[in-house]
Amino acid sequence: MTRLTPNETPFDLADGGRTFVSRDAYEADLTLRRLMPHVTECLDALEVDESAQTAFTKRLNEFWPELFALLRGLYGGRYDFYFHLEQILLTAAKASAERPSHLIESDRRRSHDPEWFHSEKIVGGALYVDLFSGNLNKLTDSISYFKELGLTYLHLMPLFAVRPGDSDGGYAISDYRSVDPRLGTIEDLTELAARLHEEGILLVLDFVFNHTSDDHRWAQLAQAGNIEYQDFYYIYPDRTIPDKYQATLREIFPTVRRGSFTWHDASEAWVWTTFNSFQWDLNYSNPAVFRAMAEEMFFIANTGVDILRLDAVAFIWKQMGTSCENLPEAHQLIQAFNRLARIATPGLIFKSEAIVHPEDVLKYVSPEECQISYNPTLMALLWESLATRKTSLLYQSLSRYHKLPPQTAWVNYLRCHDDIGWTFDDADAAHIGINAYEHRQFLNRFYTGQFEGSFARGIPFQENHETGDMRIAGTLASLAGLERAIELQDNREIELSVRRMLLLQSVTLSIGGIPLLYLGEEWGMLNDYEFVQDPAKAGDTRWVHRPKMRWEFLDDLKETLDADDALADRSIRRQIFRALQRMIEKRKHLAAFAGQDIQLYATGNPHLLCFARIHAGSRILVVANFSEHPQQIDGNLLRTAGLARFFENTLSDKQYSTEQPVQLEAYESLWLSRV
Ligand code: GLC
Ligand code: GLC
Repeated sequence: MTRLTPNETPFDLADGGRTFVSRDAYEADLTLRRLMPHVTECLDALEVDESAQTAFTKRLNEFWPELFALLRGLYGGRYDFYFHLEQILLTAAKASAERPSHLIESDRRRSHDPEWFHSEKIVGGALYVDLFSGNLNKLTDSISYFKELGLTYLHLMPLFAVRPGDSDGGYAISDYRSVDPRLGTIEDLTELAARLHEEGILLVLDFVFNHTSDDHRWAQLAQAGNIEYQDFYYIYPDRTIPDKYQATLREIFPTVRRGSFTWHDASEAWVWTTFNSFQWDLNYSNPAVFRAMAEEMFFIANTGVDILRLDAVAFIWKQMGTSCENLPEAHQLIQAFNRLARIATPGLIFKSEAIVHPEDVLKYVSPEECQISYNPTLMALLWESLATRKTSLLYQSLSRYHKLPPQTAWVNYLRCHDDIGWTFDDADAAHIGINAYEHRQFLNRFYTGQFEGSFARGIPFQENHETGDMRIAGTLASLAGLERAIELQDNREIELSVRRMLLLQSVTLSIGGIPLLYLGEEWGMLNDYEFVQDPAKAGDTRWVHRPKMRWEFLDDLKETLDADDALADRSIRRQIFRALQRMIEKRKHLAAFAGQDIQLYATGNPHLLCFARIHAGSRILVVANFSEHPQQIDGNLLRTAGLARFFENTLSDKQYSTEQPVQLEAYESLWLSRV
């Protein structure tokens, strides 16, 4: 019998009079019918009640055809495809059976409201448990702090068991099912998750699925000569194949080691290690790896996670002769994980971490793949605008890449635990007369403080002397000028640096999507150069912006300071905290800030950024001045942008009329609405 292609005419299946749009649909259905008895057996054995079984089967029927097509596309040619397919399905059934009841409730609510994460009430924060509070139990004591600041989303940096010594800040995981004993236990994690949910705070954890640590059980078995587990990784006896791949690869961590392969002495073999030499890339062309990682994903999800941050998504599929980044199969893999989550843990959403070309970033964002994504393009271009005092590249980029499909959102951030890379599009730069190569050189010099007149104090990360590439490490405050200003004891500069920080925050809080702070930003944390004392950190300059929380600083927030303190560090911290807290509070009361849509307005002034946010009948016009000099915007222009004759700045409560030009002070940002 010849196979029909997907688009051929429906045909009747003899044994039940049912119709299928294609031969593929028929085959998906037949496969599920064959597997179903095993699924039922599994659910019965786990004592899943009838209504929960019905709900699971309903979701399975809905998402199976897509899941089957995706997995068949990736693995259909493998001798052991059917075996793994069955295992994958049983893994999903088991995960659904083990879903804690409070998560089943949020699963139900979210399935009726697929844009639940579009809310203006969501404001995120990210932190390392050890550096912030010591351990998971003590983190519970900080819930009141998160609430005081206004956070409703908490990303805990990787907290699972890691290799000893350097573990890339937790990204070299040796066991996805146990918490790093220094931080606590799985029970502590599930308890914390439940507490956060009671307090209305979402929990975000990483799914580090591109690689494991070199001491993960699978890697150890591979090292012991077990072929089944050697097939979990990319391991080669000599350079023949590595050299062929290497010819078209980008180097991600060139200061760690040249190229993407590491010689492993004990195994006497070359191992694919995109990042650090101890992070072994998983081989997803092997369906056993997909199945094994699906199990780990469900385990993590069921501890009480609302959002899984999919780490290093760009790198998960390799094909010789390509850059091995952003390949179509990488998308199919994530879509397959997404379908599995829809079936077993439906309230869970994915966040993409793709720090790549803006067009490639977008390709990971859809309801069928990652519902939310870091917005590295906006991040980099806000810093670019701050350095140049001009918004043209930012406009150019926003007009091309800000729009997202329904049921998805950006996560907008200024700093995270990683570096800043200048990932803007070269053609966008060329379009407005900027030479991309030279501009990146300028930005690197600017943010490492080498450019004359620069306010920034960043340091290089992964400088590649061959290509001239470099990324930037540093905290928000140090990059925005506070470190330098304090050293110079220059009050005017201090004031300007605080304004810069608040300007950037005012944009990420208003531009559409979920704003995400890196904790410490809220009081102006500076670079900490002490990391070089710790041998496990010394080789990675990103630790400069990952210092330990200084709880004593927060006492400054509470006290009433006397006049002598007015210019002291404590008063600066307090000023930043209170201003940010206020902005967060304002955001949460502005319905226009829900959702994702923006309308950009050209102002004719190169230093200004102007956009409208419109949602549910309300409208806010945001105008931001990226210059340290006052700027004006024409009243009539504001009227065209939808403001009435009288309007006010929600951030200052100051009122204006369109009869007069509106003045913006140095680095000032306005959130304008009708009165
Ligand atoms: C991601 C993480 C980064 C880490 C890398 C390897 O990019 O954000 O910190 O080094 O993955 O896991
Ligand atoms: C590269 C990777 C990104 C990772 C970063 C860490 O930019 O693309 O995934 O976060 O390196 O420095």
